[in-house]
Amino acid sequence: RIAGPCGMVLFGVTGDLSRKKVMPAIYDLANRGLLPPGFSLTGFARRDWADQDFAQIVHDSVKQHARTEFREEVWKQLAEGFRFVPGDFDDDQAFAHLRRTIEELDEQRGTGGNHAFYLAIPPSFFGDVVGQLKEHGLAEETDGRWRRVVVEKPFGHDLQSAIELNSTLAEVFPSGSVFRIDHYLGKETVQNILAMRFSNTMFEPIWNANYVDHVQITMAEDVGIGGRAGYYDGIGAARDVIQNHLLQLMALVAMEEPTSFEAESLRIEKQKVLASVVLPQRLDLTTARGQYAAGWAGGRKVAGFCEEEGIKPTSTTETYAAVKLGIDTRRWAGVPFYLRTGKRLGRRVTEVAVVFKRAPHLPFSASSTEELTQNALVIRVQPDEGMTMRFGSKVPGTHMEIRDVNMDFAYGGSFTEASPEAYERLILDVLLGDPPLFPRHEEVELSWKILDPILEHWAKQDAAGRHKPEKYASGGWGPASADKMLARDGRAWRRP
Ligand code: BG6
Repeated sequence: RIAGPCGMVLFGVTGDLSRKKVMPAIYDLANRGLLPPGFSLTGFARRDWADQDFAQIVHDSVKQHARTEFREEVWKQLAEGFRFVPGDFDDDQAFAHLRRTIEELDEQRGTGGNHAFYLAIPPSFFGDVVGQLKEHGLAEETDGRWRRVVVEKPFGHDLQSAIELNSTLAEVFPSGSVFRIDHYLGKETVQNILAMRFSNTMFEPIWNANYVDHVQITMAEDVGIGGRAGYYDGIGAARDVIQNHLLQLMALVAMEEPTSFEAESLRIEKQKVLASVVLPQRLDLTTARGQYAAGWAGGRKVAGFCEEEGIKPTSTTETYAAVKLGIDTRRWAGVPFYLRTGKRLGRRVTEVAVVFKRAPHLPFSASSTEELTQNALVIRVQPDEGMTMRFGSKVPGTHMEIRDVNMDFAYGGSFTEASPEAYERLILDVLLGDPPLFPRHEEVELSWKILDPILEHWAKQDAAGRHKPEKYASGGWGPASADKMLARDGRAWRRP
């Protein structure tokens, strides 16, 4: 899988996303020999830069964040294809300049008229940029050349704005040319959920309400919001992570077997799950939100969310969110899916835990099974990528005592191949025109349909001044209300 002749135009070259993810991924792809030799990268920004200044920015980002070793000859060849176009997103002349640049690149570097436009910019600018691309004939796919647009979340801030955003894109690009990045879908372990479920016989027969008690999906981060106050305040954990990463994970865990691994078949199955999600009646008892308070993290004293630079001291933005969802299908009737995410928690871990029902009968004395809990299959998305199966086993000795043990699969123990970074894989897929790992607008809209009532419920609580996100200690495991939420169901969150 090597990309054919093509180039990419990157909008938003000075942002975190470009510097930490996109630029290093492009270098890593080049280093692995997966980009065409004439690949070109054109930066577009409101900066008074020449091509060399842009090259320097990419160089610094690659040196700092690339995963593969720096090789001068790879860098040199790649950097020959760097161009920079200065301008505003509504500047006609700048887009005329961009068009000339692309045409020159087609001649000089053999990019074949094939270009992807990567919008690493706030969605409020999407309209301006795609409008200009259309105006200047840059979105047209004529004479067998392709044009694609790559967008990053947030795909709106609620259902209505997501629909509007989508129609802005749809006016210019056909849906098959819009690539929405949810970088979780680019992760090796996330793709392995489908491999694990559908390439084996032993999981699928018990993957349903007859055997599964509940599912917990956790994405915990130990970091705070870092320098992202501008993006995060007013967005919060539910919009930032549940709307996209966690609901996509849930869809992969819960979906039926697709008829193939084509994008369309996957989408149909994921969409059925998202469309079947039901919220419990009492959102006050089945959702929880929190905000990190000052404390200790990694041996360092850290500020609380409301004391972070750029955050309003009165902010009610949540940095932790937990929700309980149901999926109204025969397979999942009555099985709660608990989703949680938070910043400044005890450690960085993303995992899916499928917790099974207790054995219907135990032919052992109560005292011999005191330490036996429920069977569980834990898919460790990151770090320590792998899977753990928890089950009961006899403790060696002359008496009968049964206790939980773990059976472990670790990627590192079974494979020597390193997995590519999510962005590498996704950018390569954009250039190849391979869409299965990109959510379609239908999925995005269904996800907002799930989240909107929860966000409205929280907004009402804020407006009534009754509730605010509960403070939780940095370095802990989130607000007490999240623990109570599970305790009410007779369950508890895993401590990964
Ligand atoms: C992003 C969120 O999508 O995912 C961030 O906007 C979060 O807030 C990040 O930190 C986490 O990604 P990863 O790959 O490190 O789990």
